[in-house]
Amino acid sequence: MPLPRFRQRVLVTGASAGLGQEMARHWARQGRDLALCARRVDELERLRDELLAVTPAITVSLHPLDVTDHEAVDAAFADAAAALGGLDRVVVNAGVAGGGSLGLDQAAANRTTALTNFVGAVHQAEAALRLFRPAGAGHLVFISSMSALRGMGGSMNVYSATKAGVSALAEGARSDLAGTGVAVTAVHPGYVRTSMASHFPRMLMASDPERATRAIVAAVEREPATAYVPALPWALAAWPMRLVPLGLYRRIAG
Ligand SMILES: NC(=O)c1ccc[n+]([C@@H]2O[C@H](COP(=O)([O-])OP(=O)(O)OC[C@H]3O[C@@H](n4cnc5c(N)ncnc54)[C@H](OP(=O)(O)O)[C@@H]3O)[C@@H](O)[C@H]2O)c1
Repeated sequence: MPLPRFRQRVLVTGASAGLGQEMARHWARQGRDLALCARRVDELERLRDELLAVTPAITVSLHPLDVTDHEAVDAAFADAAAALGGLDRVVVNAGVAGGGSLGLDQAAANRTTALTNFVGAVHQAEAALRLFRPAGAGHLVFISSMSALRGMGGSMNVYSATKAGVSALAEGARSDLAGTGVAVTAVHPGYVRTSMASHFPRMLMASDPERATRAIVAAVEREPATAYVPALPWALAAWPMRLVPLGLYRRIAG
């Protein structure tokens, strides 16, 4: 099997906070050039200054972006490719976790979660592959979630459904792109203590962002089809999570 290529030019969405910010820190320390996208430009500017203070030789370009706006995603990814001289890896990471049980007046928050996490991921994949397909190269990474493995109720209902959609999107794209030189990876993190965590009713076996990001980045660099991270406990948990009866799953996971 050929070794994965070193992906020098990396675009990360959702880079103003949490896992996206930590991934940017990690790759900047390794000397990668970065295109960072999010809505909060002030946070992106702070991060850029921090990254360049540590690793002045890299290029960091900033792209204010709402991933629910497909034209804006196309434009931002094209701008990023122009700023870095191309893109080698795109990490579809932006996400939200608001919402609640269906039919209980949470329709607006549920819709925002669906639009951001799933429709936004479609927009990002379209824009990334418009660049990668003609080049016959590139690595498209989807940050899914362990919650993709089963339907979950309450505030996790729409969130887990969007992540199941993201994982299916990744698998279909991988099938589509077989033999083209474009790699596709779906990463499934377990719970991580980022700002998003305030929306999760339970934080079973949660990791801090640094540990989770080390595991995510290590998995991404191997470029597998799918990864469950951190591997302990989540690679072990993935199999029983799929098999336990729903009633038992609900009692454990919420
Ligand atoms: N934390 C966990 O336990 C956990 C577990 C598994 C998977 N994940 C996934 O990991 C990814 C990152 O989550 P996190 O934990 O790092 O959350 P976070 O700290 O809340 O960060 C979310 C990021 O997404 C960006 N974002 C949200 N809505 C956006 C939009 N409409 N357009 C563009 N950017 C948007 C935010 O930036 P702006 O607000 O500046 O736009 C922010 O940078 C998400 O896809 C999440 O589902 C998280």
